Amino acid sequence: MADSLLVAQLSDTHLFADPSRTMWGQPTNPQFHRVLQRLQQLARRPDLLLLTGDLSQDDSPESYEHLHSALAPLAIPTYWIPGNHDQNLEALGEILSQPPCDSAKSFERGGWQFILLATLQPQQIHGGLSPEALDWLDQQLQAHSDRPHPDRHAPPGDRRSNRPGWTASGSRTRQSSSPSPPATPRSS
Ligand SMILES: [Fe+2]
Repeated sequence: MADSLLVAQLSDTHLFADPSRTMWGQPTNPQFHRVLQRLQQLARRPDLLLLTGDLSQDDSPESYEHLHSALAPLAIPTYWIPGNHDQNLEALGEILSQPPCDSAKSFERGGWQFILLATLQPQQIHGGLSPEALDWLDQQLQAHSDRPHPDRHAPPGDRRSNRPGWTASGSRTRQSSSPSPPATPRSS
């Protein structure tokens, strides 16, 4: 077993049902495929792939199908959280629960505990964390206090107000009080 963990994180793929569509002039579907090609050309295959939000631009089931069918040949264990563009959670959850994707939001890999915290708010651009989400985070941090690694799509808070989300949500205290991950992951 390798003594380190190689994690690839892809964010804001903004895929469309129609692969010819563009976002701000950018053909996001073809670009996503090029990124996956680069991943496959790496000298070392990633042990883990994290998709951190805005997986779709049009929130269509077809866009999530495109995502899954592109990832399937790589066979890299893939975990994900939705972004503010991913409001179709039913389709997203159904499609991206199929291997190699996994809908778990807290899991262990190579001695690290990954905790994926979505800040999605229904029909909102900005992120936020509900009391229930913070309680869940507390539970996960306590249950895995030796190796926490929170990750999220966007800072909670309103981007338009330039208000620091962490301060507004009170999560900074929770974050700073949590144990820090080790400099190098522990192999298991
Ligand atoms: Fe985005």
